[in-house]
Amino acid sequence: MSSPSRKSDFSFTPENLKKAQETIAKYPAGRQQSAVMPLLHLAQQQNANSLTVPIMDCIADMLGMPYIKVYEVATFYTMYNHKPMGRHHVQVCTTTPCWLRGSDEVLNACKSHLKVEVGGTTKDGMFTLSEAECLGACVNAPVVWIGKDYFEDLNAERMEALLKDIQAGKKVRPGPQIERQASAPAGGLTSLTSFVKESQKKAAAPATEAKAAPAKKTAAKKKPAKKKEDK
Ligand code: FES
Repeated sequence: MSSPSRKSDFSFTPENLKKAQETIAKYPAGRQQSAVMPLLHLAQQQNANSLTVPIMDCIADMLGMPYIKVYEVATFYTMYNHKPMGRHHVQVCTTTPCWLRGSDEVLNACKSHLKVEVGGTTKDGMFTLSEAECLGACVNAPVVWIGKDYFEDLNAERMEALLKDIQAGKKVRPGPQIERQASAPAGGLTSLTSFVKESQKKAAAPATEAKAAPAKKTAAKKKPAKKKEDK
């Protein structure tokens, strides 16, 4: 049973309210509480990247949940923020694989460029810096999560360049920050190399052959008609 309703000074914008209702409608009757996490995300986006008690109360009322249950979810997961945040949340992964690949260097580059400590927000309100646990992209370590994107294969230099680009409002390229395709080996292929070469050869072959071979004439040469023998 839900707790009695409390007055909330938060409400979704009409556009977000529509999105919230669509999300709730995805769940079967009686299971609307399952929408709590997407609704918290939506509210957080609307409220400059952080949640407040009135926001959580509003969601609890929408889903018919006790307030405490919404607080439990919102305080358990680290992706929900409970203090004012910068427009860009820079989360540097410092778990072992990233640490072994230089996350200390990346974190220090963030601190010195942004002039904030971990947990701090820049004076202009543009960045909040955090440390994060494994982001699940260790193969491209060290990894930093900013907004909705991962930035991978970083070092101090690349991290600083990335922050400068964001500050300048430039379009930044998420994913690996070195020339590698997704999570493919950074130095090129290391296994099945002959197989790949052979496949590439085969794939290229028909096009080359077609070019080299003269086109066959489809129509057979007409034989000259036999003259009728004189009887
Ligand atoms: S340890 Fe950093 S992504 Fe896994």
